[in-house]
Amino acid sequence: MDALKVLLERRSIRKYRNVPVPDGVLEEILTAGLYAPSGLNLQPWYLVAVRSPEKMLQLRAIMSVVAMRFNPLLQERFHDHPEVITETNNFLVTLGGAPACILVFAHKRDDGDRDNVIESASAAIQNMQLAAWNRGIGSCWIGAPNHVDCGGLFEAAFAPGRGEFIAALTLGYPDEDPKAHKRKGGRYTFA
Ligand SMILES: Cc1cc2nc3c(=O)[nH]c(=O)nc-3n(C[C@H](O)[C@H](O)[C@H](O)COP(=O)(O)O)c2cc1C
Repeated sequence: MDALKVLLERRSIRKYRNVPVPDGVLEEILTAGLYAPSGLNLQPWYLVAVRSPEKMLQLRAIMSVVAMRFNPLLQERFHDHPEVITETNNFLVTLGGAPACILVFAHKRDDGDRDNVIESASAAIQNMQLAAWNRGIGSCWIGAPNHVDCGGLFEAAFAPGRGEFIAALTLGYPDEDPKAHKRKGGRYTFA
């Protein structure tokens, strides 16, 4: 697919068909992550592709803890939009039926330059979202665990000693056709 078309048409997908993503396609997506730019070329990431039903079950159990802890934040932020609270909560607990999920971990810099690591890992995540969409695979970036101090649960279960949990990326063939969020205009200029 044309690169610009892929990035303009990608949407966060929160409902997936019950169809596995082939390992070959997962490898292509992971490779796209590894080819992201990184500050000082540190390539600080460590990626775990979870796709066995047993491990997905374990992942959902951890996400249920996240959902429970995240709920008060949702209530506060979206008290006028109960449907958003329900949808977000359901998605965290079920992961939308996603057959696979990539967990992103990153090693902190010794000199404390944590921003570099987060920025680099974020570039890897976006590369993977776009590579996935190029194969018709939807994804959703999940950063909620870090807002409720749950990163350690993912580290202990999936990548002990491999760095700090950054985010989860659900993956699967879409079972929804979400409309594009309106992009706010006037955020760039020429000089
Ligand atoms: C840093 C970051 C964290 C995010 N965390 C979550 C999350 O925890 N749960 C979720 O449902 N979506 C999450 N998202 C997805 C955003 O909600 C989504 O990208 C945004 O609403 C724009 O929609 P689009 O991706 O369809 O363009 C996250 C996105 C980013 C970049």
